[in-house]
Amino acid sequence: MKVKSADFVMSNSNVTNCPKDPIAEYAFIGRSNVGKSSLINMLTQRKSLAKTSGRPGKTQLINHFKINDDWFLVDLPGYGYARVSKRDKKVFQKYITDYFLERRQLVCAFVLVDIRHEPQKVDLEFMEWMGENQIPFSIIFTKADKLKPNVIEKNVEQYIQQLLSSIWEEAPNYFITSSSSGIGQEEVLGYIDGMNENFKKNNWADLI
Ligand code: GTP
Ligand code: MG
Repeated sequence: MKVKSADFVMSNSNVTNCPKDPIAEYAFIGRSNVGKSSLINMLTQRKSLAKTSGRPGKTQLINHFKINDDWFLVDLPGYGYARVSKRDKKVFQKYITDYFLERRQLVCAFVLVDIRHEPQKVDLEFMEWMGENQIPFSIIFTKADKLKPNVIEKNVEQYIQQLLSSIWEEAPNYFITSSSSGIGQEEVLGYIDGMNENFKKNNWADLI
């Protein structure tokens, strides 16, 4: 799929205020600093569509971007950011969980994990919560430019094995990406393209 247009639509902290268009939507979630906003810029080939930072905690709201006037990409705040106060964390988490529980046009969430790290408790718990609430998700491994190909393969294999040895009977779909080198761009966009087709073929817009 070619990204012909990518436009910022709005930011807000309440799922009920999100755009009403009955079009397919995909959201990026994961720990702070994992590279959610950078990946949106890489996929859309726009340098600063989504705001990025070397300091965790940059994205604080639910941000909607409309792609090709046809579907939404959503940039979310990270979870597991230690420097946010406990109270803020609760508020934060509430609007993120409300988003996932209530956003009917969400076709698939992408849970981003840093390819350099072993599975982290907070990520595994989040995926478990998504499973319990029947929210479809795929995994995106980020920052693949930081590792050699043989290490990438080994880390991904270990990650998936660990998921299978916990609560998962089947491994989720996953993608290996780098926002600096562009690895994975075609694969992720192609996957979204296929889901967009299903969305239209099955008239899912009528259900929203
Ligand atoms: P929050 O909004 O704070 O939750 O973070 P985020 O997940 O949106 O991360 P962001 O995209 O802001 O990136 C965090 C840092 O990681 C920045 O310094 C990016 O330049 C860097 N980064 C993101 N993706 C990659 C990547 O693929 N490779 C490398 N080398 N660095 C990356
Ligand atoms: Mg961000």
